[in-house]
Amino acid sequence: MNLDEVIAQRRSVREYRGDKEVTKEQVRELIKSAQQAPSWKNSQTGRYYAIFNKDKMMEVRAQLVEQNQIVTKDVNAVIVSTFVKNRSGFNREGQAENELGNGWGCYDLGLQNAFLILKATDLGIDSIILGLRDAKGLRRVLNIPDTEEVVSVIALGYKKEIEILAPKRKELDSILTVYE
Ligand SMILES: Cc1cc2nc3c(=O)[nH]c(=O)nc-3n(C[C@H](O)[C@H](O)[C@H](O)COP(=O)(O)O)c2cc1C
Repeated sequence: MNLDEVIAQRRSVREYRGDKEVTKEQVRELIKSAQQAPSWKNSQTGRYYAIFNKDKMMEVRAQLVEQNQIVTKDVNAVIVSTFVKNRSGFNREGQAENELGNGWGCYDLGLQNAFLILKATDLGIDSIILGLRDAKGLRRVLNIPDTEEVVSVIALGYKKEIEILAPKRKELDSILTVYE
């Protein structure tokens, strides 16, 4: 697939097949692609926790809102993404370079995660990013240190044979201002 096809084909999937599993090797490949994203001064503060273990998976899913627990009921792999705080967007003395502070860490992680989910599409793996989750609970069950901010859960799998319509996008000219 070329890049345009990957971008066009990616959809947030909410119904997965339970009979086809994402492998650890595939997840490593996704994280490798995520690592190629740009980041503030190449600070690379994104961190990933990949869950395959069935008991751990239950603990992690329990930290999602009910609708997201239903979404993930048939997935065998989820990734919890975090970033190391106070680095991206900060100087060596630990001071924020501007008003966004740790917003830059979140920005970098979002870029990484975009690479990750696009690579997943390229490999034929479906995904959904889940923001409705209990960060404290995830920190507890995965032993995530306080130096990291817990951000999203990304579910990975293979979609059921259903047609997923692309949610409508805003008109281009309603989000773009051009000065010429
Ligand atoms: C930061 C973020 C958080 C999201 N959280 C959830 C979520 O908790 N539950 C859910 O069903 N979808 C969630 N989504 C998926 C969006 O609803 C989805 O991306 C959007 O509707 C556009 O659909 P598309 O991804 O198929 O283009 C999230 C997406 C992003 C980027």
